[in-house]
Amino acid sequence: MAQNKNDKKAVPPTPENTRKNERDVIAALDIGSSKVCCFIAETGAHGGLDVIGIGHQAARGVKSGKITDLKAAEHAIGYAVEAAENMARERLQNRPISSVYVSVPGTQALSHQMDVDARVTNGIVTDRDVRNALSHARAAGAHGRDDLIHVIPGNFTLDRQRGIADPRGMKGQQIGVHISAVTAYTTALRNISHVAAQNHLDIEGYCAAPYAAGLSCLVDDEKDLGCTVIDMGGGTTSIAVFAEGRLIFTAAIPVGGQHVTSDIARGLTTSLADAERIKTLYGSAQTSPADDAATIDVPPVGEEEHALPNYVPKSLLTGIIQPRIEETFELVRAKLVDSGIDAKTGRRVVLTGGASQLSGLTDIAQLILDKQVRLGRPQKMRGLAEATGGPAFSACAGLLHYAVAHADEVPVFEKPQNFVFNVPIGGPLLQKVTLWLKENW
Ligand SMILES: Nc1ncnc2c1ncn2[C@@H]1O[C@H](COP(=O)(O)OP(=O)(O)OP(=O)(O)O)[C@@H](O)[C@H]1O
Ligand SMILES: [Mg+2]
Repeated sequence: MAQNKNDKKAVPPTPENTRKNERDVIAALDIGSSKVCCFIAETGAHGGLDVIGIGHQAARGVKSGKITDLKAAEHAIGYAVEAAENMARERLQNRPISSVYVSVPGTQALSHQMDVDARVTNGIVTDRDVRNALSHARAAGAHGRDDLIHVIPGNFTLDRQRGIADPRGMKGQQIGVHISAVTAYTTALRNISHVAAQNHLDIEGYCAAPYAAGLSCLVDDEKDLGCTVIDMGGGTTSIAVFAEGRLIFTAAIPVGGQHVTSDIARGLTTSLADAERIKTLYGSAQTSPADDAATIDVPPVGEEEHALPNYVPKSLLTGIIQPRIEETFELVRAKLVDSGIDAKTGRRVVLTGGASQLSGLTDIAQLILDKQVRLGRPQKMRGLAEATGGPAFSACAGLLHYAVAHADEVPVFEKPQNFVFNVPIGGPLLQKVTLWLKENW
């Protein structure tokens, strides 16, 4: 049995025994409702990613994405990280990793859209004008319980001309920018950083799980033309919408594959373990004419192993699964429609996550969402074996892409020195956005 990473507490890492994560080694930690997973990768000079360590463990103390038992979660993380370190032992020169990029479950994050605009002072747009745009923000919300994890500026407008990537140096009167921001519940981030710290890990960056899933399984054309990623996990189904090459919306519902499993356990009066096995072996989200003729053996709950077989028609199983899947996609559609984002989502949907492996899923998604649907798994990464290159690992793999190409989106929370914050605008969220933009423009 793997040694728990917590057991290392006796020998705390020091500069001598810890390989500080050098620029060429990055680690990702995805704390899911079903499994905790750690990837360690090396980045090549060309920006490519080579996964050198993989560890995963059944999740403990996590429900619908939320950490509900710190100790249990801490131990599961310890095992996963330790397994990944063991695999990468040679490349890491026997030293533990010291920091990770970590996923924030979709259920613990909120997506915000805001438009910001301002007058150009001297007829030619300068850095100052771009910054000034923020003091005229229209959309503001008080999100006292939240922390900002992503700020993604869209294209600018200049005198109502849309689609300007960088307005600086251009002539005009009025500039505007659309911002897509993601906040996460402070308590969720605190719990994540606590369980990481208990394993001697610093958090290098937070990334919303569906955003990470999208970064790992979408191709550039999909991100440009508009595409919705649906990450179907154990306890959550989370959504990320991409358009014009960037994230524009995230959402989640606290329903996932575990709900399908418990529906089966209840409906067929069998144990959760048998229901899970039956689901993965025979489960389908769509009825087929052959279902009535086919039978499956369902061990009754609590019976001895050698009890008489209990055969039920496969149609009964499909009849349990289908309504739950339909309900899930209906809820996804409602999230997209209610948020007003549906019109921008394009024609494409990519399903990923462990629960996307259920047969017949794409047809139902196509029908309910009225889009072209494909299955997605991690891409553009070397070193993933068949088992760890599957859809359940999209979010973890995506964290590595995030680390390499998007980590500079992370805002700075602290107020910088010598900084005069002259215009109070909206709630804390907007102030954080402003600070970030002031720093980055
Ligand atoms: N072949 C399969 N067919 C159907 N469902 C499957 C299959 N393999 C795995 N699953 C389901 O996938 C789910 C786990 O998916 P995943 O590993 O993506 O979850 P997670 O990331 O830990 O959870 P979450 O993202 O919700 O926090 C489980 O409910 C499991 O039953
Ligand atoms: Mg997940």
